[in-house]
Amino acid sequence: MSARHAEEAGAAPAVSVRDVCFAYGANEVLHNVAFDLPPRSLTAVVGPNGGGKTTLAKLIMGLRAPTSGQILWNGEDITGLDITERAKKGISYGFQQPPRFKGIKVGDLLSIASGKKLLRRGEACAYLTQVGLCAADYIDREVDTSLSGGEVKRIEIATILARNSGLMILDEPEAGIDLWSFNKLTETFSAIHEKRDATMIIISHQERIIALADEIAVIDRGVVTKSGTVAEVFPTIAAGAATGACPAFQ
Ligand SMILES: Nc1ncnc2c1ncn2[C@@H]1O[C@H](COP(=O)(O)OP(=O)(O)OP(=O)(O)O)[C@@H](O)[C@H]1O
Ligand SMILES: [Mg+2]
Repeated sequence: MSARHAEEAGAAPAVSVRDVCFAYGANEVLHNVAFDLPPRSLTAVVGPNGGGKTTLAKLIMGLRAPTSGQILWNGEDITGLDITERAKKGISYGFQQPPRFKGIKVGDLLSIASGKKLLRRGEACAYLTQVGLCAADYIDREVDTSLSGGEVKRIEIATILARNSGLMILDEPEAGIDLWSFNKLTETFSAIHEKRDATMIIISHQERIIALADEIAVIDRGVVTKSGTVAEVFPTIAAGAATGACPAFQ
């Protein structure tokens, strides 16, 4: 833990998830999830498929409401706020499977995300470059089904960068991304974190992204089974990966 992170870890939490439960119908998939995230920290959320990571991200973004518990952002209880109100408060979420927007061009989507009526072409290009896209090839393309899965994923991450959020939640940003672009993305996340521009939650199965984090939280079957610094938690995940054992039970 860096001296700066240690200092931030002692500050009032940016995000507090308090005893949150959530059920899809009768199936409770999150059980009393609780944690605090220091301001401008990067937390990697990891764990087995179906463990509840995406569901938790949707609860923080306001796409779903918890059945019980509270979510606080900068000390304010936002549990009752909808997604638009949370977005206005600087929270953004990059979907595991991003939506497509037929009829909207990439440049327009970046303008909307930035909140500026007319985002300068140079600025839009800079966001695309940060996710490894050659801006000239994409800025005038529609965000429709003609884009590949990896392209649409990177465009969505560019919109999150354009949004300049206080809390960025990224759901498996590596999914479907080629190796070169993945390197670029990792550099981008590292640079944002280094500048301490935002509090970041990155759901990931990728070792190199997890290694960027200050803290790791393991979520398995709807429960936070482990949390701590990368130095504390990462070796147990790596050992589990090597043996094929479930990381949550190392
Ligand atoms: N819309 C839904 N309706 C019913 N059950 C759902 C729905 N979405 C998710 N689930 C279930 O909730 C549980 C948690 O799913 P979630 O998508 O949060 O897992 P995850 O940890 O993100 O998994 P992955 O690593 O595969 O992305 C799973 O058992 C899943 O089948
Ligand atoms: Mg998921």
